[in-house]
Amino acid sequence: MDRIRIVGGRPLSGTIPISGAKNATLPLMIASLLTEETLVLDNVPRLADVGLLQRILGNHGVDVMVSGKRSGETADHGQTLHISAAHIVDTTAPYDLVSKMRASFWVIAPLIARMGEARVSMPGGCAIGTRPVDLLIMAIERLGAKIDIEGGYVIAQAPKGLRGGEIVFPKVTVGGTHTAIMAASLANGTTVIENAAREPEIVDVADCLNKMGARISGAGTSRVIIEGVAKLGGARHSVLPDRIETGTYAMAVAMAGGDVLLQNARPELLQAALDVLQGAGATMVSNNQGIRIARNGSALAPVEVTTAPFPAFPTDLQAQLMALMTRARGTSHIVETIFENRFMHVQELARLGARIQLDGEKATIEGVERLKGAPVMATDLRASVSLVIAALAAEGETIVNRVYHLDRGFERLEDKLSRCGAAIERLAG
Ligand code: EPU
Repeated sequence: MDRIRIVGGRPLSGTIPISGAKNATLPLMIASLLTEETLVLDNVPRLADVGLLQRILGNHGVDVMVSGKRSGETADHGQTLHISAAHIVDTTAPYDLVSKMRASFWVIAPLIARMGEARVSMPGGCAIGTRPVDLLIMAIERLGAKIDIEGGYVIAQAPKGLRGGEIVFPKVTVGGTHTAIMAASLANGTTVIENAAREPEIVDVADCLNKMGARISGAGTSRVIIEGVAKLGGARHSVLPDRIETGTYAMAVAMAGGDVLLQNARPELLQAALDVLQGAGATMVSNNQGIRIARNGSALAPVEVTTAPFPAFPTDLQAQLMALMTRARGTSHIVETIFENRFMHVQELARLGARIQLDGEKATIEGVERLKGAPVMATDLRASVSLVIAALAAEGETIVNRVYHLDRGFERLEDKLSRCGAAIERLAG
């Protein structure tokens, strides 16, 4: 298994290109199941999760063609996928595939909407909490599907097709909102979703579906209205920039010091996180190239942050912010309200010398003078990258084990950071 070796203490300077968003790419690829025509996606990041979803879609009979390299293109350009679900040959998503990536459960929506049936394995729990799918199932039921749970599989049936309906989410759910929008796009009649997630990735997927012929309005607000259509067609769509990757590198710069342009980044996708970073002492300027972030010399100030659905501070940046606050001058508080168990980074950060106390959903972080390198590992993507951020400011060498978590969601992480002066390398094996 690969590891990453980091020697802390070097400031970062230069340019980091921001990739297409993982959490938009995955539902966009899944949306290809809604049409027999080809969906072309540009700016797709090269990530392990994208490869895995290609395999999952392949099992349903979907062909994915990756365009070859074009002149002038570098590794900084995303890839272009041509996805064709002309013939769906299998409406079952088996346990051994769905259990590897939770978002693959979302195939249930296009399969039931287009094929009138779907048999999808329950995803099971994962490292950041129980993460149930009850609200996704509720949404599909509200559109007329009959649901049975048998042998660990959700079996959805709607032989005469789905019909529009009202879906009121008792809790904001990104996956529930994606699922409801996709299913409603091919339902007979109008669907209204109340308390919908407002994340930018929801808007990106709705934009793409509208290019495919869907009639979705209100995406990005808590009330989304979908007028179902009989068929969707092909389209071409470029994936929006990854706001979590943007925020992660912004925190890396705030931690290590220096001055970096986050190329292609869009501030409106993560304003709450940028405000927190500014409060902590980073400076930033946005222009049409991206966001330029710097911290030169000044101490980090502590923060008070609560994670919540967009547009508030995202749970997917909580671990990274905690790593940053380990070096603040004073005591910070971070409250995690989205996932009940998303604190696995705490004990690993402690191995580097961090002082963090947990009390239920609240973490108290007492800033320390120095962190010291150590071998560490983490069991999810964002927790792993928080260890990289801490290591950039730790004295001596840190080895981050289980790098495959990073490869699921960060494209060429060590390359992007080393080009800005970090002492970071991948150790094979
Ligand atoms: N929830 C339920 N029932 C459901 C669905 C969700 O109770 O049927 C709960 C969850 O347990 C959680 C809350 O609702 O407490 C919100 O979960 P949500 O459905 O919004 O999360 P998700 O769709 O499973 C996506 C991202 C996550 C991100 C969350 C929150 C993708 C592929 N995943 O997950 O990203 O943390 O939204 O913003 O878009 C990551 O990229 O590292 C990651 C975990």
